[in-house]
Amino acid sequence: MPVALGKQTRRVRFDMVYPFIVIITVFVLLYWVLKINKEYYVLAFFARRARATDGRFVDNIAPILKGNTIFGNVFDLCGKDDAGTFRYYRDAALEMGKSYLIYAFGSPMFNIIDPVNAEFVLSNPTLITKSIDYDFMQPALHKGLLTSTGKKWHTRRKMITPTFKHNVLVQFEEIFRRYVNKKRRFAMLDTLICAEKDGLIDHAGICEEVNTLMFGGFDPSSITLMFTIFNLSMYEDMQELCYQEILEHIHDPNNLDINQLSNLKYLERFIKETLRIFPPVPIIGRQTSEETVLPNGLILPTGSQIIMHVFDLHRNPKYWDQPDVFDPDRFLPQNSVKRHAYAYIPFSMGLRNCLAQQYFMILIKTLLCFILKKFKILPVTNSKDLVFHMGLTLRVENNIKVKFVLRNK
Ligand code: HEM
Repeated sequence: MPVALGKQTRRVRFDMVYPFIVIITVFVLLYWVLKINKEYYVLAFFARRARATDGRFVDNIAPILKGNTIFGNVFDLCGKDDAGTFRYYRDAALEMGKSYLIYAFGSPMFNIIDPVNAEFVLSNPTLITKSIDYDFMQPALHKGLLTSTGKKWHTRRKMITPTFKHNVLVQFEEIFRRYVNKKRRFAMLDTLICAEKDGLIDHAGICEEVNTLMFGGFDPSSITLMFTIFNLSMYEDMQELCYQEILEHIHDPNNLDINQLSNLKYLERFIKETLRIFPPVPIIGRQTSEETVLPNGLILPTGSQIIMHVFDLHRNPKYWDQPDVFDPDRFLPQNSVKRHAYAYIPFSMGLRNCLAQQYFMILIKTLLCFILKKFKILPVTNSKDLVFHMGLTLRVENNIKVKFVLRNK
């Protein structure tokens, strides 16, 4: 009997203590969460927070986009398709008005829509690692020039850059003249094969780089050609100016050379303005591999994502008057001279800029000479109807249609 009473007393005492243990544990846990929440955005999957060098509120340097749920921006894109995602980032840029922060997937993401921050990132040798968005490309491209980082990227970049230099591009004249010999046509492949003989690259590496140049080159080039033809259809007067310029300077498109093409100044401005208003690579991403202090005093922790929204940068009203108006004369020397160099970055800039911008200009001018000499381009699709998709290259939901009419029937 006394033994039984003792057991009961112990049970009663434990029953009384138990709630206290729970309450204390909850308080300790809450205290811990609140404490580390200063350093980590706990509900945004423990995303380490950006800080300010001088203890200012981060919002005063870069506004933080309000999430749709209590979990930061983690679930903001749920249920959104590619068009919805594109709209989300456009609306965010318009709402914030300056480069802004979001917290998602366990890390901060600094979204750049101004040239000052873009310049800092693109010219910074510690910021050459691509953001996680590029991981989608890796099954196809592996770690080629576009996706690799560190020593491998440096070696490959040094190897391939000379194949796009002016003296090599001049050889393309001969392709246009159809008198090219095989060795010259494959300047880039030659370089890689020579490098293989010297033990600087192996067969798999050559495949990586050929795939990279095919994909990295083909997609944005075809998108730019598509949008340029579309814009020619939309702006009849400007198309006429391009046509007249071609008539003046190009007598035989089968016999082009780089000097003749360089006389097509208006056409070049038209292409540049197309690349501004429809940048074929609408986002450029990096991630920090160490804690990084930005010129505005923002400290990004290791592993932060940095996204440069080229589409929004190219329409930032601080740097472009009436940004939605298509006007090739923005690129007249007198109109460009005061503009920040990084306000226009269709080919990126700095250390990892596109190798092929000069090559691409020759390519697209040549194609347009052929097309415009033969056809007048009339509109079918209207630019107001375009629905853009978010992706590593700029896509639209619609089928863009134009009408080609033979000029000399
Ligand atoms: C309109 C045409 C093109 C546009 C707008 C364009 C744009 C770009 C941009 C924005 C980048 C930087 C990407 C980044 O940092 O994330 C880039 C890189 C690159 N582009 Fe282009 N590109 C074009 C055509 C081409 C062509 C024709 C080729 C090759 C034949 C090419 C090869 C490359 C390569 C290899 C890189 C990687 C450079 C590096 O990371 O070091 N691109 N391009």
